[in-house]
Amino acid sequence: MPNRNFTAENLQLKDNIDICFKLNSRDVKIKVPCTYTLLDILRYELKHTGTKEGCGMGECGACTVIMDGGIVNACLVLATAVSGRDIWTIEGVSAKEDAKPIIDAFVAKTATQCGFCTPGMIMASYYLLSKYKDPTDEQILEGLSGNLCRCTGYAKIVEAVKAAARELNGAKKEARDA
Ligand code: FES
Ligand code: FES
Repeated sequence: MPNRNFTAENLQLKDNIDICFKLNSRDVKIKVPCTYTLLDILRYELKHTGTKEGCGMGECGACTVIMDGGIVNACLVLATAVSGRDIWTIEGVSAKEDAKPIIDAFVAKTATQCGFCTPGMIMASYYLLSKYKDPTDEQILEGLSGNLCRCTGYAKIVEAVKAAARELNGAKKEARDA
């Protein structure tokens, strides 16, 4: 259920707000309870359930999305702060050509087990690889430090990010040489 302490029954119409934003390059206009977070909007109003709800308090990174070019925890962004933003979720990013090597590497390196953290990990990895062409272990660990995984022990995830970086760099080189 969305936002735990507030239900549709105890909210008045005046508690709803209109917001407009871009989601995965599409315009969205929606009326939502002002107590909602971006995570509530994505999952419960827009059915973008690829963004996961773990802790709901900014600790686990399962809800990682890209907002105005930076990564944020969607559970910490209030609905009132969403208007005018450019938001990308796993649904949009996973359709991008330059995300495919990351997703493939997570599968190839068995960097995903139960998969609950995986959308957030992919989003954080995508952002990381947009900043660093060839990240060091330290940069990867720092870049993913806001994302928790209870299954993999992280080594496979670091391997996957490095493999994706190699693949992306190879693809860019091929494109340059063509
Ligand atoms: S659900 Fe947002 S950080 Fe855990
Ligand atoms: S694969 Fe299960 S939490 Fe990361």
